[in-house]
Amino acid sequence: MQVVPAIDVRSGFGQTRRRDAWWRAPLVVFLVLSTFVVYATWAAFQNAHYTFGPYLSPFYSPEIFGSSPHSWLGSRPAWWPGFVPFSPALIILPFPGLFRFTCYYYRGAYYKSFWADPPACAVGEPRTRYRGEHSFPLILQNAHRFFMWVAIVFIALLAYDVWAAMWFTDPATGQARFGIGVGTVVLAVNVVLLACYTWGCHVLRHVVGGRLDEVSKKPVCDYAYACVSGLNGRHQLFAWCSLVSVMSADLYVRLCSMGVITDLRLF
Ligand code: FES
Repeated sequence: MQVVPAIDVRSGFGQTRRRDAWWRAPLVVFLVLSTFVVYATWAAFQNAHYTFGPYLSPFYSPEIFGSSPHSWLGSRPAWWPGFVPFSPALIILPFPGLFRFTCYYYRGAYYKSFWADPPACAVGEPRTRYRGEHSFPLILQNAHRFFMWVAIVFIALLAYDVWAAMWFTDPATGQARFGIGVGTVVLAVNVVLLACYTWGCHVLRHVVGGRLDEVSKKPVCDYAYACVSGLNGRHQLFAWCSLVSVMSADLYVRLCSMGVITDLRLF
């Protein structure tokens, strides 16, 4: 194990005695998160090509208002401001977006890669005053404990989308028939990865057992705590895998809808 010599991080931005490639991880985080934010923003404003047959892009689910057959309450609502371009994704994406933005793991990652605060452990940062998350605006990150409950509901909704993605309209009869396409698998893998990410949340771990003094005395809590802890130990892995999968699922549905690729029916 490499021992990093102590350094006064106030000695100057980027100053360090580390000899490893400490900049590599923050750079990769910066590139991947930037790519995701740019793509998700672009996709959210498209208001097109977000469905293909029974498939619905996870960026647009649930489609509360919209013009596709997946819409719950019909097309664009009357209260939508005229100066804002309408898209179903703009109504729902803020919730999973803020859940991810306030995630404890991502906070540690983007504080380093976007704010250089600090760029990495034992590397000088561009500020001399540390304010932490106990004052405005970063104290708002505590809202993560509320977004977690919303995210759990989204997992249920996306799981329903996978079920709906197994029913294809028979062109001959117009009846829905059971089937599995590559798109079904793409949506299913996505919801599994999102569930592993969400159910490994530090907040959930606290709720199901971490708040108890002797969790072992409550078997249900003890079991739930062990399950969440197992996922929590891989929270970083699921954070990145689910980020890539949700973007890939949208891209898959989009490319099918645009006719760029053909969805293969497996069953
Ligand atoms: Fe990462 Fe809650 S801490 S999702």
